[in-house]
Amino acid sequence: MANILVTGGAGFIGSHTCVELLDAGHDVIVFDNLCNSSVESLQRVEQLTQKNIIFIEGDIRKQQQLDEVFQQHQIDAVIHFAGLKAVGESQKIPLAYFDNNVAGSTTLFKAMEKAQVFTLVFSSSATVYGDTHPSPLKETMPTGMPNNNYGYTKLIVEQMLEKLAEADARWSIALLRYFNPVGAHESGEIGEDPQGIPNNLMPYVTQVAIGKREKLSIFGHDYDTVDGTGVRDYIHVVDLADAHLCALNNRLKDTGCRAWNIGTGNGFSVLQIRNTFQDINQVDVPFEYSARREGDVATCFADNQRALDELGWQPKRGLKEMLKDSWNWQKKNPQGYRST
Ligand code: NAD
Ligand code: UFG
Repeated sequence: MANILVTGGAGFIGSHTCVELLDAGHDVIVFDNLCNSSVESLQRVEQLTQKNIIFIEGDIRKQQQLDEVFQQHQIDAVIHFAGLKAVGESQKIPLAYFDNNVAGSTTLFKAMEKAQVFTLVFSSSATVYGDTHPSPLKETMPTGMPNNNYGYTKLIVEQMLEKLAEADARWSIALLRYFNPVGAHESGEIGEDPQGIPNNLMPYVTQVAIGKREKLSIFGHDYDTVDGTGVRDYIHVVDLADAHLCALNNRLKDTGCRAWNIGTGNGFSVLQIRNTFQDINQVDVPFEYSARREGDVATCFADNQRALDELGWQPKRGLKEMLKDSWNWQKKNPQGYRST
């Protein structure tokens, strides 16, 4: 069993990954500045797992804080979630994105090198493929030109890590390219807790269903897809969390830098999501069609064969579980973590 430093571990994907790590017997140290999360998520992870987490409030842009973490704790590997993720915001305040996501990552990698910790799992995104390749997207396709600054930060960090592993054979790095993470832990104790108006489809749908928002705007219905609305590869956050454990096991045995797509390989349209959500959960989600959102592609889904073959990972939860668990979390926590 290993000691794992989880940056951004209080967030949506990080908190679910902490559950899986603790359940698998690992020790977890979370380093998070709480700019988009609260410690309540970690308290709930501790209740769910009946295990303790070491929590350090800190910022990945602060070299000294990170150096202290590595000096004070024996760390075997790092899972790096910390960063900003709002695509629209990244167009308005690009420097904040380059600072947190790129400079913050460089600072973390320097601290790792200093402490001789070379095993890393990095949260990347399907956005690194750009919008020119047809789906299914494969890791053998060249990365493209992301159409927003957030996407650029992911691409830059991926490229930096590839160069790092080329220059120093001690590094062992997994680039996990997530597709669309949704759902929540089946207990409904932890889930996605967006601040303000949600940018992403699933939290918007659940907030309409609970009556917090009037109706869903479906961005475009003239795409070349099954019903004209955008198609994406939704992946249950617990399956995504599990992929981090599989990647960690793979990386603890091997060196180099390698990318894996983490999606189910199935695409669903916005309308299919809204309709299935209503059917499964027996709740209304009123909607209207509105204009296409700038930067959106018609269709994006994964070829996940490499992850299946090499990581021994398999997504176990289908669309119904994703929609049921998202709704369960929203119902149990109408105000997110703020309701407690
Ligand atoms: P999240 O915002 O819930 O979690 C990110 C966490 O990082 C938060 O707890 C936040 O407080 C922390 N953080 C941000 N900047 C920090 C800094 N400078 N120092 C320390 N902590 C900092 O987001 P998430 O959905 O859990 O995403 C986790 C990672 O996965 C991110 O890197 C994100 O870009 C990536 N990703 C997410 C999606 C998605 O749709 N959710 C898709 C692809 C990739
Ligand atoms: N959509 C709506 N209405 C909404 C929100 C979204 O119709 O209110 C549609 C979008 O147009 C798209 C689909 O729902 O067709 C999914 O949109 P999301 O915003 O949930 O997700 P994206 O596919 O745009 O983006 C996600 C992550 C990014 C990541 C990208 C590629 O949010 O971080 O996948 O991996 F970069």
